[in-house]
Amino acid sequence: MRYSKFITMLVGCTVAAAIGVGFLLGQTPSRGTQPAARGSAQTAGRTGGTSSAQVHGNLAQVMKGILYPNSNVIFFVQDKSPVGVKSEGDPSTSVNPLASTYGGWEAVENSALALAEAANLLTIPGRKCSNGRAVPLQNPDWAKFVQGLRDAGMTVYRAAQSKNQDKMLDAADVMTTACANCHDKYREKPNLADRCQ
Ligand code: HEC
Repeated sequence: MRYSKFITMLVGCTVAAAIGVGFLLGQTPSRGTQPAARGSAQTAGRTGGTSSAQVHGNLAQVMKGILYPNSNVIFFVQDKSPVGVKSEGDPSTSVNPLASTYGGWEAVENSALALAEAANLLTIPGRKCSNGRAVPLQNPDWAKFVQGLRDAGMTVYRAAQSKNQDKMLDAADVMTTACANCHDKYREKPNLADRCQ
């Protein structure tokens, strides 16, 4: 190939690449990044830019919406490997974290962190239990049980990082105990009205 022809081709390729990059940059953000951006804009608008904690659900709703689904991801690994869980459709829209784009051990890590983070939600003033009683933040053992959940979350996180099924089994047990310790005292009552005291 003649040198000048080679240069012409090279310039052509560079221009094509530049147009390609420009095109990609001009694209709207991928689906995955949109909700987060929208969410933060809305939150900033609603709260006037403050970032203080707010309460939106009662305690049972927080349990069902956040603790329950994430603990199920962890309990799944008690007798099965999280690797290779298949989604029914597109993994990017899977409702099963284990089968999603961020599936396998990463999903277990993320659910462990979700539970450790959720401990913070159990300490926000102003939340009610489903029977209308205030979440008993003032009780010393409430703080102890919340810390138990936080520690259990981090124990599971480390076990998931190790990808060791035996360690995971022990860690899931620690999580079960952390849930049960608090439930025994504050949830398991014959009458709903007696919860949270
Ligand atoms: C610090 C205390 C505490 C911890 C820790 C805790 N829970 Fe709860 N949970 C409660 C209380 C109290 C209720 C009842 C709430 C209500 O009635 O509003 C409850 C309710 C629930 C419910 C709703 C069902 C029902 O009977 O109302 C689920 C599901 C649940 N918890 C799951 C979990 C799981 C899973 C964990 C551990 C990963 C956990 N909880 C850890 C205190 C706790």
